[in-house]
Amino acid sequence: SWTTASIIDETVEAIRAQVGDGRAICGLSGGVDSAVAAALVQRAIGDRLTCVFVDHGLMRSGEREQVEKDFVAATGATLHVAEAADRFLDALAGVTEPEQKRKIIGREFIRVFETATAEVVADHHVGFLVQGTLYPDVVESGGGDGTAVIKSHHNVGGLPDDIEFDLVEPLRALFKDEVRMVGAELGLPEVIVARQPFPGPGLGIRIIGEVTRDRLETLRAADAIAREELTAAGLDREIWQCPVVLLADVRSVGVQGDGRTYGHPIVLRPVSSEDAMTADWTRLPYDVVERISTRITNEVSEVNRVVIDVTSKPPGTIEWE
Ligand code: XMP
Repeated sequence: SWTTASIIDETVEAIRAQVGDGRAICGLSGGVDSAVAAALVQRAIGDRLTCVFVDHGLMRSGEREQVEKDFVAATGATLHVAEAADRFLDALAGVTEPEQKRKIIGREFIRVFETATAEVVADHHVGFLVQGTLYPDVVESGGGDGTAVIKSHHNVGGLPDDIEFDLVEPLRALFKDEVRMVGAELGLPEVIVARQPFPGPGLGIRIIGEVTRDRLETLRAADAIAREELTAAGLDREIWQCPVVLLADVRSVGVQGDGRTYGHPIVLRPVSSEDAMTADWTRLPYDVVERISTRITNEVSEVNRVVIDVTSKPPGTIEWE
């Protein structure tokens, strides 16, 4: 549309004005925000942008492959994958407090970037870091107009003091629906543009308790099933997002086969929302809920119970941490 095209023109101009003839690096998270931010910057400064995907080991099933395949195919951007799962898991060992998890993940994320920058563009100075920060993130982190900090979103409030980049935030004035329209106008494929939001700290804030490799594997398997069934039921557009949460420190008794089990609950948190500032819990069709529950408890051996979160925001936040 005319409006979307003019948003793109103005943003591209602003990026050129800010970056000049400098170089930028952009972290791709797998989500629509970073993909659209990167595509805008790519349009503004071309191959002076290098994209980096930090594999922090907290992604969902198949996400790394989607970035490597779909995003690169759509934009032709230069992509470097930084393997950092061990580093993040080491840093998160023994940590259970949500804000501490977020700060650790945010800090490690930036440091891996600095290393990747040094490696990837060794001959050039990279002065700018592109981030897909949206307007609601700015407001909730108190960066907009002095609003109190609710959660330190890792792409706004969790930055370390010794950051060496200037931030380029081309989506800072936009809501999610505008970002999707801009992405579509830029030619990004539906699989990226229609993608539901996923938090920067990833599955690290969807494991209630310490984050370990085994727990990540359990949550990843349950999450993949839930997403598969919601997509098959045609519910992706109706649902804003559906966090799948592992209550890793909670156990309950069950019976599976002829045996007593003592496993973990999985929480489904489907929400409907316009901008994530407020949300309502989505009334999922019971047959879909039944399929998800049956499949998760059959296919993921550590899980013996599936529950649904029926809390609106407020008082609940969308994520559990
Ligand atoms: P809450 O839990 O605050 O989440 O209701 C609101 C929206 O923000 C997402 N979220 C994040 N996104 N970095 C992000 O990029 C973060 O640290 C983060 N924490 C929450 C959440 O998934 C929801 O869409």
